[in-house]
Amino acid sequence: MNNRRVIVKIPASTANLGPGFDTLGMALSLYAWIELRVSEQTEFHFYGDQMKGLPKDKSNLIYKVAQLVFKEAGVSVPELSISMHSDIPLTRGLGSSASAIVGALVAANALIGGPLSDDKLFQIATALEGHPDNVGASLFGGIVVSAWDGERAEYIRIEPDRRLKTLVAIPAFQLSTEKARHALPTQISMADAVFNVGRSSLLVAALASGDLGMIRHAMKDRLHQPYRAALIPGMATILERAVEFGALGVALSGAGPTLIAFAQDKAEVEQSLEQFLLDTLKQEGIEAKTLWLSPCVHGPQITVEDISNQPAIPLPDRIKGAM
Ligand code: HSE
Repeated sequence: MNNRRVIVKIPASTANLGPGFDTLGMALSLYAWIELRVSEQTEFHFYGDQMKGLPKDKSNLIYKVAQLVFKEAGVSVPELSISMHSDIPLTRGLGSSASAIVGALVAANALIGGPLSDDKLFQIATALEGHPDNVGASLFGGIVVSAWDGERAEYIRIEPDRRLKTLVAIPAFQLSTEKARHALPTQISMADAVFNVGRSSLLVAALASGDLGMIRHAMKDRLHQPYRAALIPGMATILERAVEFGALGVALSGAGPTLIAFAQDKAEVEQSLEQFLLDTLKQEGIEAKTLWLSPCVHGPQITVEDISNQPAIPLPDRIKGAM
């Protein structure tokens, strides 16, 4: 274990997919990398703009999550060298915290020889996040349908249709999940519950069967998006009109503020859809960046290296080309 270096590449994720609040998640082709090594003294090496301001002491999330794994496995590894590079923007609704949790769990488990099962890691990750949607997608890749009763999370993974592409519009402001959850009511009507059960079920069936034309009818929500709209100016118009510009469907990504449009024929809709999203946000005074992302079909990719006879290459050099 002392001569081992573990590098894990973890996908970002989008949660809810509209109606599947705290239930549906999909992994996306945007990544974070975490490297773990045993060290004499705990040290942190963070690379990339996304990492600025994160704690570099034992209160760090990655350190704490790694220690949970060691405790669960009954081993002691108090001092770690932790490196991280992330392309996933923080607090924008693309699962950055879920990818950090999943990456830390998977890397720590690999460092000690992998005693914990994926299911165990999923249970720990869900309890830490408070919902299984983002962590399930980052851990298993593809589309993950999950349910959590506060004790156990169950899931089924669906292979994403190869034709599916997504366009994300990432506003230049941060929105904490906590604030976006505070906007939600504590009770909803039976009519709204039935509306969401119908849409969410239809969406899962559409994604599982490849009936992409059904997405526009299914990707509708009455549980969270209407209440969060006030926090993201322009969102209501985007949700209402994106299909006119070629989207298969559109949703708030996780708790926002990122918006995610699903598309089939990227070349055909690329410019009009991007322009519509950017113009609508701009009319509200919001700058945003767009990215075309594919569903990521795999979970974390783990590399374990023996570094006994070689100096460790810094993480950014090691992953160059993959970023
Ligand atoms: N399902 C969560 C929410 C995802 O919408 O609040 C955000 O982490």
